[in-house]
Amino acid sequence: MCGIVGAIAERNVVEILLEGLKRLEYRGYDSAGVALLDGEGNLTRTRRTGKVKELADALHTHPSKGNIGIAHTRWATHGGVTEANAHPHFSSDRIAVVHNGIIENYQRLRSELAAKGYGFDSDTDTESIAHQVHYELDQGADLLQAVHNAVKKFEGAYGTVIIDKNDPERMIVARSGSPLVIGFGIGENFIASDQMALLPVTRRFMYLEEGDVAEVTRTNVTVYDQDGQIVQRDIVESDIEHDAGDKAGYRHYMLKEIHEQPTVVRNCLQGRLGEHGISPNIFGQDADSILDNIKHVQIVACGTSYHSGMTAKYWLEQYANVSCNVEIASEFRYRKSFVHPNSLLVTISQSGETADTLAALRLAKSLGYSSSLTICNVPGSSLVRESDLAFMTLAGAEIGVASTKAFTTQLTGFLMLTLALGKHNGMSETDHKAIVDGLHSLPSKLEETLSLTQGIKDLAEEFADKHHSLFLGRGDQYPIAMEGALKLKEISYIHAEAYASGELKHGPLALIDDEMPVIVVAPNNELLEKLKSNVEEVRARGGIMYVFADKEAHFQSDNTMRVINVPHCSAAIAPIIYTLPLQLLSYYVAIIKGTDVDQPRNLAKSVTVE
Ligand code: F6R
Repeated sequence: MCGIVGAIAERNVVEILLEGLKRLEYRGYDSAGVALLDGEGNLTRTRRTGKVKELADALHTHPSKGNIGIAHTRWATHGGVTEANAHPHFSSDRIAVVHNGIIENYQRLRSELAAKGYGFDSDTDTESIAHQVHYELDQGADLLQAVHNAVKKFEGAYGTVIIDKNDPERMIVARSGSPLVIGFGIGENFIASDQMALLPVTRRFMYLEEGDVAEVTRTNVTVYDQDGQIVQRDIVESDIEHDAGDKAGYRHYMLKEIHEQPTVVRNCLQGRLGEHGISPNIFGQDADSILDNIKHVQIVACGTSYHSGMTAKYWLEQYANVSCNVEIASEFRYRKSFVHPNSLLVTISQSGETADTLAALRLAKSLGYSSSLTICNVPGSSLVRESDLAFMTLAGAEIGVASTKAFTTQLTGFLMLTLALGKHNGMSETDHKAIVDGLHSLPSKLEETLSLTQGIKDLAEEFADKHHSLFLGRGDQYPIAMEGALKLKEISYIHAEAYASGELKHGPLALIDDEMPVIVVAPNNELLEKLKSNVEEVRARGGIMYVFADKEAHFQSDNTMRVINVPHCSAAIAPIIYTLPLQLLSYYVAIIKGTDVDQPRNLAKSVTVE
């Protein structure tokens, strides 16, 4: 999704902005632009559709300089992918604006501003921000006051940075609904939508809060809250590795991230899981006393994170004796839902900034939940800051748009949550021990599972000419089948659907033929015999199957079925283990199809608009 970088310094900021944009590329975008204000008061702008490289080439061919600059990668929402719609947007060659989010009342603002004589060069909602600020300046406000006045007119979400050619000593930034972080340098300051953009220039960050407006000069940052009062926000030191953006020799970030899973799962467990169980309060300060009263869990998330929530429902109800509902955030936030007594609201998110999930958390606060917990990968993100309890998944920066290591660490966190809630709700000794032992074995089992790579590469060849596919699983493997289908469609663009295999005969069997590969996840669990019957239903109709199975499940390869034996593992961790081969399958199918694996078409990493 859109990315913002801004800088104010003594030096020329062009390279800082370009490096920042490159580091935001993983979020997904379709055009990019930069506006620069130099010491002589010249405001210039360069924009390109396509990749940041095209913008960089243009800026190197026609060198531009500036001590103040704002830059943007745009993921189109209002208006097509054109240079005219790319940010920054100008008002009268004086005001330059970059913006993430959506100004929902932009049509009304456009009409009002047009009536005041402002012309529009783009189809975007953002251009109305530039003109509105310009209008406020014309009414006699200074830049800071003009932004304060302008934001009162905006409905929707914005993270925005504004510069004024006639006021070259400061940038004004405003946040409502779209994250912004200020980076502190020495005699220079920065702004970005994501700290990743600024890691080469600083490690000291301040996150703006909802409704904040800030004035950023070379040497000073002043933050005003939504009532216009000066407020202090904490400055935090980032411990994200500077080179988190490197591929470490892998062809794609996604492959690197798939291979990192044994290590990041180990990190996620470290210091949290002892020999006989989890350590106290791993979900945050006072978590144990909060969880003690919980009788119901409501999980809210989107996409892959939703699939981890669906898996957790099986675990929480089976092992922890706690009832659980799981809902897609965009549904939850727009309906009246029932709040069970003693309910814990759990949000799950890699980014911690997903607009619908964040809105669901904010809504839940008014609904009477006992407490909120987020399972999240990005420290300091909005979900982490706004939840009562936070469990950091410690997966490290995930750059590939298709989520992999974030998912498996979320599941690892959920197994620990199952232990924590189970402790207060009569979990059996046997289940407790099975989960603890399973978690201890998890990193090495994941390593073992990665050794399936060669076999999966060969298998991927058989998928490359297919247009549709079906994924089947039962019980806690049903969400894993859903996740496998999501991965395949995201990066290989092959249509994939997942079904609980008991549902086959209620409709999807009609689709089976030899052009529809059927992928089955089949650990050796109590549902195996049921699953085998479903496999026979497919075979009887001429379907071609690819079965990821435990050796002890005794599936045999033949001319209608290819069996890939997955290392034997305990039932509790099987959903995490079976995720890996499905990730690898999507990856190698995408490689054969030649798609843009790390930045698949039309998708964005951090979905900060609803
Ligand atoms: C799929 C994927 C998305 C995200 C979803 C939620 O591979 O990455 O479906 O899972 O957009 O994002 P987060 O987890 O950041 O809230």
